[in-house]
Amino acid sequence: MTTVQNWVFFIALSLIIWSCSKQEMPELDGYQAPPGFPEMAIPADNAFLAERVELGKALFFDPILSVDSTRSCASCHIPAFAFSDTTAFSLGVEDRVGTRNSPSLANVGYQLALLREGGVPTLEMQVLVPIQEQHEFDTNILDVAQKVNQVPAYKALSRMAYDREVDPFVITRALAAFQRTLISGNSRFDQWSFQGNWNALSPSAIRGLDLFQSDRLGCASCHNGFLFTDQSFANNGLYEDYADPGRYRLTGIESDRAVFKVPSLRNVAVTAPYMHDGSLKTLREVVQHYQSGIQDHPNKSPLLRTFELTDGETNDLINFLKSLTDEEFLQNPMYHQE
Ligand code: HEC
Ligand code: HEC
Repeated sequence: MTTVQNWVFFIALSLIIWSCSKQEMPELDGYQAPPGFPEMAIPADNAFLAERVELGKALFFDPILSVDSTRSCASCHIPAFAFSDTTAFSLGVEDRVGTRNSPSLANVGYQLALLREGGVPTLEMQVLVPIQEQHEFDTNILDVAQKVNQVPAYKALSRMAYDREVDPFVITRALAAFQRTLISGNSRFDQWSFQGNWNALSPSAIRGLDLFQSDRLGCASCHNGFLFTDQSFANNGLYEDYADPGRYRLTGIESDRAVFKVPSLRNVAVTAPYMHDGSLKTLREVVQHYQSGIQDHPNKSPLLRTFELTDGETNDLINFLKSLTDEEFLQNPMYHQE
């Protein structure tokens, strides 16, 4: 999708398909928020049911959603890499190359606004994006629904999950329900901070955490809270000239040009390459960028600092970032294809 018109189309279509009232659920019905995490807001009409999650999971891994049945959601959102991809730009149908790096879907149910410019408000609505996108599935939700409804197992599961035939409502809801279960909150950092396991973090990682939170580096002025993002949008000085307009694409406001969502840093050690365009390949390159690579851009955030780290401090900071990896999440059979 490249134009504002497409967004307008999505929103118009979604108004037809959805009534998106959000409401707090007291419990996640088996998907308890981890220590330190708030309750997730679940749309009233898409409460967790095992059948819904099961259907969403099956669809997530099924190439049936793409026009030529070659690519699935999991082609670009790979479970072992916290549901991100390992290349800068993922390949869609006919190996068409996308324009942005695939983000991790860990804890995506907590994201207040989806996509790197934050243009899509709900996971239900977001499903339309890859289905329609020319370099992703290149099809449309009505054709997909028809195709999926011809598979007896899906037809039956759809009845159990939503009490109706497979249609756009069912596909978008089921995929959203599955994605809300992708909760990752058991990294070594979590064990250390919330579970009383004082040995979970090495002394180096603890020094790295201190650096991360220090005024000198200022990382936590944007990467804070339980997801290590305040979910704001910022320019972090990658280029003087950006190929990608960022949030400007959504708002058309000049101060939003080259401004992107602050990503969560959970599982960041396995989600390389980094940034909206996958231009930084390692955590070391990221630290280098913040230390000495910040470029002047009119929208560059005033929260960025200039600092110099010793080699030891660089290692400490990287060890802290690595402590945000949740091995249990990466290996959880619940999130992998059977
Ligand atoms: C060809 C690769 C590709 C496929 C296939 C794909 N995605 Fe993505 N996904 C991406 C990219 C790239 C982005 C970031 C796009 C952007 O910011 O404009 C993204 C973004 C997302 C986001 C937003 C995450 C956030 O934090 O903002 C969600 C949710 C998502 N995808 C879910 C899905 C689902 C569900 C499917 C299958 C129906 C799917 N994706 C298929 C590449 C892909
Ligand atoms: C002004 C807010 C801000 C500050 C301060 C900041 N970041 Fe970021 N960070 C961002 C934004 C925005 C992005 C995404 C940029 C993009 O998509 O091109 C990002 C991306 C990253 C990524 C890549 C994540 C991914 O999955 O691609 C890492 C790692 C990171 N920052 C670590 C740090 C560290 C370490 C510091 C401190 C030295 C720091 N950040 C300071 C806003 C900030």
